[in-house]
Amino acid sequence: MLMVDNSSGHNLVQPVVEVVDLSKHYVQPRTILQSLMPEARLSKKEALRGISFKLERGRSLGIVGKNGSGKTTLLKVIATLLFPTAGSVRVLGLDSIRDQEAIRQHISYVPADERSFFWRLSCRENLVFFGVLSGLSATVVRQRIKELTPLLQLDQMLDLRFDTLSSGRKQLLSLARGLLNKPRLLIVDEPTRSLDLETTDNVHTILKSLQSHDECSLLVTSHQLDDIEHLCQEVMLIDAGQMIEHFRRQSSDESISVRIRERFRQLVHTEVPGTRPGPAERGQP
Ligand SMILES: Nc1ncnc2c1ncn2[C@@H]1O[C@H](COP(=O)(O)OP(=O)(O)OP(=O)(O)O)[C@@H](O)[C@H]1O
Ligand SMILES: [Mg+2]
Repeated sequence: MLMVDNSSGHNLVQPVVEVVDLSKHYVQPRTILQSLMPEARLSKKEALRGISFKLERGRSLGIVGKNGSGKTTLLKVIATLLFPTAGSVRVLGLDSIRDQEAIRQHISYVPADERSFFWRLSCRENLVFFGVLSGLSATVVRQRIKELTPLLQLDQMLDLRFDTLSSGRKQLLSLARGLLNKPRLLIVDEPTRSLDLETTDNVHTILKSLQSHDECSLLVTSHQLDDIEHLCQEVMLIDAGQMIEHFRRQSSDESISVRIRERFRQLVHTEVPGTRPGPAERGQP
């Protein structure tokens, strides 16, 4: 029997995210010098190379890896913002290419470096604009802003112009925007990158309570092992676009940082096979 949640319309039995043999290649844009040599081959960057994993409903998965290992690319493909080059991605049982509109209604992607807000609008105006753009009514958005204000301590900033905010406050606004639609899956790239210690604790609490009270699944990347320790039941270590290890916490009080740190150290001294760039990737004709 197929169990369907009528409020979201998605299949409750299938995993929230199911990634099978996912690859993503970027074609590197030419530099000015290369554009003067039209015969030069376009170089290709293999950002993801055959990644497979599942995230079950209500679970939290952290993605850890070196700079440039493909974390943001992976999040963007799952958030339907980038097409995969090969392989498949299903989110809430739906296909990431065919059903991207339906998926977007039930998930949110919070980028590490938010640049899409309107600089001259206030925070409140921005939230209303993007909430309505995503299909919510203005009344619902205003109600959600009221609910989120005490949680994210937005009261001091709601009526300030976006361009006057500090980076940390911009990041909180970005998280608020991601929570407007009460997502079933929240995808957050480096959630605490610009936050002070107290705000970091607050964000950890909010993300954990979303998971426990609202059954929101969480997919998060971070370079802060503290985030991973507080937020994630599972951790995937990736390097050069490949999955190296998928850790699952055995018990709720087990620390996962030590194992990750150990594997990370080993990685720094090991080259993943097949990742040495060829001439085209080095930008040579
Ligand atoms: N738009 C793009 N065009 C070409 N190459 C790209 C593009 N975006 C990312 N890349 C390359 O793809 C690889 C993976 O990048 P990605 O941003 O996913 O890494 P990351 O793990 O999120 O890194 P970081 O920890 O620094 O945020 C990198 O080598 C990067 O240079
Ligand atoms: Mg990144």
